[in-house]
Amino acid sequence: MAIKNNKNAKIPLIINCDTGIDDAVALMMAVKSEKFDIRLITTDVGNVGPVQSAINCNDILELIGGPEIPICAGEGKCLTREREHVAVHGKTGLGEYRFPKNSRKLLKEDAIEVLNRTITESQEKITILCVSPTTNLAKLFKKYPEVTKNIEKIVIMAASIEPTPKGEAPYPEFNISVDPEAAEIVFGAGVPMEIVPMEMGHSAYLDWQEVFKTKNTNFVGSVFEVMFRAYKDRHVKNGIAMHDGTAVAYMTNPELFKVSPVHTDIEYFESVDTGVMTMDFNKKPNAITCTEINIKKFKKLYFDLLKKCK
Ligand code: BDR
Ligand code: CA
Repeated sequence: MAIKNNKNAKIPLIINCDTGIDDAVALMMAVKSEKFDIRLITTDVGNVGPVQSAINCNDILELIGGPEIPICAGEGKCLTREREHVAVHGKTGLGEYRFPKNSRKLLKEDAIEVLNRTITESQEKITILCVSPTTNLAKLFKKYPEVTKNIEKIVIMAASIEPTPKGEAPYPEFNISVDPEAAEIVFGAGVPMEIVPMEMGHSAYLDWQEVFKTKNTNFVGSVFEVMFRAYKDRHVKNGIAMHDGTAVAYMTNPELFKVSPVHTDIEYFESVDTGVMTMDFNKKPNAITCTEINIKKFKKLYFDLLKKCK
């Protein structure tokens, strides 16, 4: 269990993701920032199946010359709901690019056991970056509630401030609405929660010129450009949404964001046929949310980190 946190050291981190094109960007940014000691990556319900997501993580780490990081696929079943994967990131989750085989392996253990072990055995409190639905985390907290004592906080790309076009509910952001019952457990577990909502990744999208610049930056950029061609986000018609990357930027460069305390709940709306996160800025806060991003500085950060790749 935790002894103390050394503020100058790298942040001990677990990433829960569903890699996914913007998850791939987030992985690149997290690794190249050199600000994290990434102890484990787990893959969750989400953009593609968890095993494919885990393979994608290894492919991205290999592509960017990243370190060997233990990667473990989750079970891939929501707490109570049946759901199909959505195809907004192409069939494999990484668009049309076909990665060459590499020698990196996946852990063949139960992700919940590995999460529990990694957190409880850590000398320092662990921060979790969640850029996917929260099913693994909910299962962890249900089975091992004590584990929360050794978690510093959860930074999560999730939720939306803006409502649906008819205004009857907040927009059903993917990472919450895929498994809202899981999100309820995670947000109710007593761990400090910091939210990077969908509006950050929408406003800091890469326009086509920046996609072209990505392609011409280096080999990794040229692979990203191929991946980007398959990324369809219904809010971003003129470029590529940067959701999960903005969550990494929030951790490495919090000065790029305006934040506000907020009261969150998971509510179930018939009109959107799932649970969504409601945000009330007038009620007693139980989380922090980003409300604004410095788009120019975010993009500079993205390109600076991309340039560190080959
Ligand atoms: C979230 O949904 C996923 O498709 C993206 O990877 C991101 O984590 C955005 O709503
Ligand atoms: Ca994701």
